[in-house]
Amino acid sequence: MRNVCIAGNWKMNMTPSEGAVFAAALAEAVKDASVRVVVAPPFVTIGPVVSALADSTIEVAAQNMSDQVSGAFTGEVSADMLKDAGVSLVILGHSERRAIYGEDDAFINRKVKLALEKDLEVILCVGETLEEREAGNLEKVLQRQITEGLKDISAQDMARVIVAYEPVWAIGTGKTATPDDANAAHAFIRSEIEKLYGKSVAESLIIQYGGSVKPSNVKDLMAMEHIDGALVGGASLTVEQFAPIVRYNK
Ligand code: PGA
Repeated sequence: MRNVCIAGNWKMNMTPSEGAVFAAALAEAVKDASVRVVVAPPFVTIGPVVSALADSTIEVAAQNMSDQVSGAFTGEVSADMLKDAGVSLVILGHSERRAIYGEDDAFINRKVKLALEKDLEVILCVGETLEEREAGNLEKVLQRQITEGLKDISAQDMARVIVAYEPVWAIGTGKTATPDDANAAHAFIRSEIEKLYGKSVAESLIIQYGGSVKPSNVKDLMAMEHIDGALVGGASLTVEQFAPIVRYNK
């Protein structure tokens, strides 16, 4: 049995003071959770959230990170800064970073390598657009994002990598992939990982599903063989929605 990890990606929501209040309420609401729970606040909200979660097992992730170690990179945030602030994971390659900010696989790969070197765990996001899916290119796109995103990553480092499959057409749209479609994409990702790293790495890899996950669909998604968690956007912003997602098996 693989571990389950459910993460909330707050995107550009929650001021520092809102984030602290929310995190404290969430910790109380999910204290009986039997899965790994992660929240990913915006950079400036990380500090107050880490403090608010001091007595909780909820972990804190960043939503992005610089590909550089330090220096003259105005506006960037380094792996060392994140670690010092109490962050243990970082989301990399989110489709919004790819589409809106032009991040390509090579750039994302540099960040993945640096994050792992700095002892951060990585949530690497992959997923196809509707256009790519309709053109029959789902597997080609996933294969490219996996192979290039994980270039030069060792089998040993893969123990600290989570892959999030997020079909772009399902993000923030209310359209969820059917559990069967999502499971098929996850199975494909696992088979690609097996080709690169062998069976035992592939079998233990956590693959999250992301894209309009809600309390009403989480159970059916989590029942699928290859779905080991969720990366939740919109529904991670209220305790009313995120707590039942985290407690899907209660
Ligand atoms: P959504 O976002 O749950 O709002 O669709 C998921 C994500 O982008 O990580």
